[in-house]
Amino acid sequence: APIQAPDLSKCGPPNIDSVIIPINCCPPISSTIVDYKLPPVPNKLRVRPAAHLVTDDYVAKYNKAVSLMKALPEDDPRRFMKQAHVHCAYCNGAFDQVGYTDLELQVHFSWLFFPLHRWYVYFYERILGKLIDDPTFALPFWNFDTPLGMQIPAMFTDKNSSIYNKLRNPNHQPPTVMDLNWSGTDSTTTNNDELIAANLKTMYRQVVAVKKANLFLGEAYRAGDASSPGQGSVEGVPHTVIHKWSGDPNQPNGEDMGNFYPSGRDSLFYSLHANVEKLWTIWTGLGGTRKNPTDTDWLDAAFLFYDENKQLVRVKVGDCLDEKKMGYTFQEVAIPWHETLP
Ligand code: C2O
Repeated sequence: APIQAPDLSKCGPPNIDSVIIPINCCPPISSTIVDYKLPPVPNKLRVRPAAHLVTDDYVAKYNKAVSLMKALPEDDPRRFMKQAHVHCAYCNGAFDQVGYTDLELQVHFSWLFFPLHRWYVYFYERILGKLIDDPTFALPFWNFDTPLGMQIPAMFTDKNSSIYNKLRNPNHQPPTVMDLNWSGTDSTTTNNDELIAANLKTMYRQVVAVKKANLFLGEAYRAGDASSPGQGSVEGVPHTVIHKWSGDPNQPNGEDMGNFYPSGRDSLFYSLHANVEKLWTIWTGLGGTRKNPTDTDWLDAAFLFYDENKQLVRVKVGDCLDEKKMGYTFQEVAIPWHETLP
């Protein structure tokens, strides 16, 4: 059977190793849960731009939206910090699996990884659009798979902006080129071309060369299964690598980006995920055996989110397989690793 949406009334404290101030990341409870229906596809899709290519006007608009989100009342589930807590709740064991009090619900390390994050970013984007009254607003994607995108996008480093975050690795500020194979120590090469070439090979290996759904999306995770059956290729590399590379190594858990519970507090998170899910779209588009599962235990797996109108909604994996049906798409950019043989 599919994993069911969590019971919010049974949410508990998250498991976090060495957190200094204990946190409660449970979402507010609501008396009504609506089964979410995708709104009709608009005539004009939201078009997510590549973060390194945006205009100043766009940056100003995005900043405005995030400032408004940060200024919402404490108890508004759309508030910036409450949105960040969504990740903590789903990823640090605040929920049990419905019907199995001895099993925690964990959305990483399984086939729930891509769908959960896509839905999360979807509502986050719609909330921002609603706050600035712009139904075409779309989040920027961190185009880390193209040479000019392989660094923290400049818009996030302006200290006076609402999308700045100080808990980031001070040695990885732009124009430092990221290493998609980073494992805790900075490479000694000063040759950016070498690093970029290695990154492109990594992209090929993690996306194009992966031909089976369980290896790309992660292993099956059904009701009653122990959590974390196995992660897909992209979840590990480059996704988790970029999290760790971005977080501040001087914090106890690599806060913010380097750990589950606080990563949603850094606006980089949503742009990282906007590109990670774009890789999912690219992967299914490659064809051959690269297909989404048709198993109803995946398609009917469900999550809860608050939508842009503060309504608690239940969404299903099967409704997030095509972003155009969800009302958005991505700016067209070249994919420089399609044919980079490892
Ligand atoms: Cu839930 Cu980027 O992780």
